[in-house]
Amino acid sequence: MQVFDIIKKRRSVRFYTDEAIEGDKLKKLVEAAIWAPSAGNIHAWNIVIIQRKGDIELVKAISPGMLGNSTALMILCADKRKAYAKGGEVGRDVLSKMDIAIAAQNLCLEATELGLGSCIIRSFNQEAVRGLLDLPENIIPELVVTLGYPRSIPHPPPRRTVEDAVIRWIKEENEQ
Ligand SMILES: Cc1cc2nc3c(=O)[nH]c(=O)nc-3n(C[C@H](O)[C@H](O)[C@H](O)COP(=O)(O)O)c2cc1C
Repeated sequence: MQVFDIIKKRRSVRFYTDEAIEGDKLKKLVEAAIWAPSAGNIHAWNIVIIQRKGDIELVKAISPGMLGNSTALMILCADKRKAYAKGGEVGRDVLSKMDIAIAAQNLCLEATELGLGSCIIRSFNQEAVRGLLDLPENIIPELVVTLGYPRSIPHPPPRRTVEDAVIRWIKEENEQ
């Protein structure tokens, strides 16, 4: 598949079959995230992978936005200490979040290529998830990605037109 086809094919999937995801596929998803761009190439983030059913349920219990089910979670966490040490306040408060968002998108696109479904979740209790996973104070869960083999794939929700998205297009007179 071409990149643009994968971009359009990816959907936020919220219902999955019981089939477990193979370990090498999960590793490939992490690799895809690692290859995302990162401000200053700092990569101040880490991933927690959860496949154990009971632990997925525990995260779900403190995540109002986590609908449906899944067979694996990847929790993308900012390393605030590393982000601050290398990028100051902007690195800690802004860039680490941007890095995580873009890494999550890489992960979801690779999941699509591998025939997996994914859904990025932000509606969860960050402090409660940090406590549940016994993470150090500087490691802050920013996004949860649910994963699995899709039970059903939602219809694509509507998208804006290029004309609606682009508010200024500054070009030379002779440019098309
Ligand atoms: C930053 C971010 C946070 C999101 N949080 C949630 C969430 O908490 N729960 C949820 O079900 N979907 C969540 N989503 C998925 C969006 O609802 C979804 O991307 C949007 O409806 C468009 O659908 P599509 O991804 O299938 O194109 C989130 C997506 C992003 C990018």
